[in-house]
Amino acid sequence: MLTIAISSLSGGQGKTTAALMLGRLLSRQGYPTLMIDADPQHNLTTYLDLDLEDNQPTLLEFLKKSVSVEDSIYPTASNDNLFLIPADDQLDTVQDYLSNSGVGATLLKRRLEPVAETFQVCIIDAPPQRSQICLTVIGAADTLVVPVEASVKGYGSLVRTLDLLQTLQDVGATDAQVLGILPFRDRWIGNTQTQESRSAVDGMREEVGEDLVLPSIRESERYKQAINRRSTLGDLGYHELEYPFEVLIEKISQRLKIKKPKK
Ligand SMILES: Nc1ncnc2c1ncn2[C@@H]1O[C@H](COP(=O)(O)OP(=O)(O)OP(=O)(O)O)[C@@H](O)[C@H]1O
Ligand SMILES: [Mg+2]
Repeated sequence: MLTIAISSLSGGQGKTTAALMLGRLLSRQGYPTLMIDADPQHNLTTYLDLDLEDNQPTLLEFLKKSVSVEDSIYPTASNDNLFLIPADDQLDTVQDYLSNSGVGATLLKRRLEPVAETFQVCIIDAPPQRSQICLTVIGAADTLVVPVEASVKGYGSLVRTLDLLQTLQDVGATDAQVLGILPFRDRWIGNTQTQESRSAVDGMREEVGEDLVLPSIRESERYKQAINRRSTLGDLGYHELEYPFEVLIEKISQRLKIKKPKK
């Protein structure tokens, strides 16, 4: 299983949008995919239409090992290959548990070991804060996708995320590297990219190098439409907007070939 953290240390950078679109496409293409909602705001759980009763297990119980692994993994209505470990707002209470455990950074990774042969890809929607949950998510990741708004705020988020990754690499808490930076809400007017978007995307290229910057997610209501209608961009007739994800999936399939073919 290749574990991909979708992480960016600011709100509204496109983490949940990217996680959702990527998960839907990968699972459709035949990759058994596990999604994990690691954000107490639980938007991913909402968008995947999982209506949980109060007593049903979520990522909180999965991390605390108070239920079996299988009991916290739910099928989704969207696709036979797409599964979810959901969250609710109680997830915040796991922060103390993680910091008191002394092994918080490796906890999620170890909990996922029993399903490493069941799924080919695991996509984790990380929270926007540099919290204990965020550390355990990056600790579990083989690789990172960093969505970054094409704005000054986005650039700050990129720098903070790379800084955290470097810190965790330095102390041996993760081996993860960045798979790609995904510019988000790149604004064009007709055939012209706005000045702000252009300089933001240029800044990303300078920070990480050309090769790591993926094609942009354009500023467009159509992404929200796809999310709200529980659909894919392609199914709504907007195939060209899926291009950034096609490029990303190509990178993921290369990584899977290198990693270990599934038996
Ligand atoms: N292409 C797009 N253009 C404009 N807005 C978009 C686009 N795609 C998604 N959005 C909207 O942008 C907002 C932020 O996106 P999203 O929720 O994915 O960010 P996030 O990083 O997960 O935020 P948070 O840190 O709060 O979890 C959402 O309201 C979403 O509907
Ligand atoms: Mg989110």
